[in-house]
Amino acid sequence: MQHMASLTRLHEVAEPTAIEVARLSHVYAGPEGGVPALEDISMKVAAGRFVVIVGPSGCGKTSLLMMLAGLRHQTEGTILCNERPINRPDPARVGVVFQEASLFPWLSAVDNIEFPLALRGMPKEERRRHAEAMLRLVGLEGFGGRYPHELSGGMKQRVSIARGLVQDPPVLLMDEPFAALDEQTRMTMGHELLRIWSTTRKTVVFITHSLTEAVYLADEVLVMSARPGRIIDRIPVTLPRPRTYEMMATDTFGRLRDRIWQQIRKTTQPGLA
Ligand SMILES: Nc1ncnc2c1ncn2[C@@H]1O[C@H](COP(=O)(O)OP(=O)(O)OP(=O)(O)O)[C@@H](O)[C@H]1O
Ligand SMILES: [Mg+2]
Repeated sequence: MQHMASLTRLHEVAEPTAIEVARLSHVYAGPEGGVPALEDISMKVAAGRFVVIVGPSGCGKTSLLMMLAGLRHQTEGTILCNERPINRPDPARVGVVFQEASLFPWLSAVDNIEFPLALRGMPKEERRRHAEAMLRLVGLEGFGGRYPHELSGGMKQRVSIARGLVQDPPVLLMDEPFAALDEQTRMTMGHELLRIWSTTRKTVVFITHSLTEAVYLADEVLVMSARPGRIIDRIPVTLPRPRTYEMMATDTFGRLRDRIWQQIRKTTQPGLA
């Protein structure tokens, strides 16, 4: 037992906190006064963890992600990323992938991926090398010269992910990145993302409405209440890695999915609880 305890401690020491949110609240200004969007959110994400956030539509998930990215200011509370405050966008520390692949239509896939590196002033040859490596990682080798309109939805989303990864930020925030995709592409993309994550070991915060996707991807699922969003449950996903499609048929998977669903149901239809 003692041996186990010291192993646990070692494990904790090996995983510093990548993101720490303390007592964060947010109120949007509205025509009839303030609209409380987030209420007393506290969360810690250890470095290298894959955390998934689920919650009813309008509960403040995107708002929270924008704040983690430094793209929006919270009304109250603090956000630390690797122990330093986040109060403006810093793509070298925190990368973001949005729901819609927000590619520049006039740039080829490889130029889209290179764009943030060009902004940073990286020389052409070096950034091409990085971009080509990312294209390979997301399975799009040979498609670098294609323009967004020549790519499928799934391919565009992979280019977006490559652009998020290319700057090599230790933290990657993803807001429903697969929502616009069909179910089969979505499953494949989730699997691909786990493969990429396992080789790059980034800290990932991932938002989704799909309970299956949440359980399949996460180390931990945070469930948010209806607006104003609070964290109402934290569910550790104990399934082993690498995850396989077969796991979806297991009792453990079903129980985890059910626990998330019950929480969502309770917060959206309190009368039924
Ligand atoms: N810029 C804004 N100004 C005012 N209110 C806003 C603004 N952005 C979001 N809101 C409000 O804040 C609440 C949370 O919105 P948010 O987009 O964060 O929710 P969400 O959980 O991401 O929803 P969805 O699952 O539908 O994407 C909503 O009630 C929304 O109307
Ligand atoms: Mg949203």
